[in-house]
Amino acid sequence: MTDSFAGRTALVTGAGRGIGRAIAVGLGRAGATVALLARSEHELAETAALVEESGARSLVVPADLRDDGQLAHAVTRIRDEWGGVDILVNNAAVVWPLAPSVRVDVTEWAAAMKINVIAAVTLTFAFLPGMVERGWGRIVNVSTGGVADPGAMIGGNAYIASKSALEGHTINLGLELDGSGVTANVYRPGPVDTAIQTWIRDQDPAEIGTALHRRFVRTHADGKLLTPEHSAGSLLARLTADDRSAQIWDVFGPA
Ligand SMILES: NC(=O)c1ccc[n+]([C@@H]2O[C@H](COP(=O)([O-])OP(=O)(O)OC[C@H]3O[C@@H](n4cnc5c(N)ncnc54)[C@H](OP(=O)(O)O)[C@@H]3O)[C@@H](O)[C@H]2O)c1
Repeated sequence: MTDSFAGRTALVTGAGRGIGRAIAVGLGRAGATVALLARSEHELAETAALVEESGARSLVVPADLRDDGQLAHAVTRIRDEWGGVDILVNNAAVVWPLAPSVRVDVTEWAAAMKINVIAAVTLTFAFLPGMVERGWGRIVNVSTGGVADPGAMIGGNAYIASKSALEGHTINLGLELDGSGVTANVYRPGPVDTAIQTWIRDQDPAEIGTALHRRFVRTHADGKLLTPEHSAGSLLARLTADDRSAQIWDVFGPA
């Protein structure tokens, strides 16, 4: 428990479970007041209870990032409560559609781009002017090590394309913000034992591709999955200690 972010407000997307929940709880323990966004209200309520156990305040903001109206409503609600946020962690993402590209519906591909990229950029552009005006802000966009090794996830074209776009956006923005007091960085969390991993293992190998399925089953069987708390801790340590911008933080990289 530190008070590194005492007096700061934060928004974590995908805060209902997995890595996002662990990030939100960690930010609360570090003194931040945390807004929690996802669709599943019961999961957000559980995260809120965990944040509040540490003595921090939270704000549950249910919203579907695919829906422009719900996204705009979430921004308005947070602005009405706090005026803006100091820390934005764009963590929510989907890994679907997973399939050979000849079978992928472009509507699903575009929906993944909407959730994984456009929604993150929308939230960033909503809260960035306030951060710049106040001369302090932290934006972290959660990506994947798959961006550095796209061949490791054949059948996950939308996921790799969306995370690559998210990283490009983040590094370009992070450089633009030089000297402003606001930073934008990428976080690659490593393989983590969450619902995304379970969901992939539960898919029919014939549907998503046997090599891809085997890879995820093996990572799990070999005990290589990190806990959400471990991975979130690595993000939070960097967020606390590193005030540089346009960095790619990797859970397996130098701290
Ligand atoms: N787990 C891994 O091995 C791994 C590896 C590399 C990168 N990552 C990245 O880490 C991040 C977190 O993933 P995770 O593993 O913690 O996944 P997770 O347990 O499935 O959590 C995903 C979160 O995103 C939310 N979400 C999904 N679709 C949404 C939508 N349309 N609108 C609003 N919220 C939505 C989910 O809530 P609802 O479904 O209730 O909306 C949930 O809270 C993602 O960016 C992922 O790409 C994970």
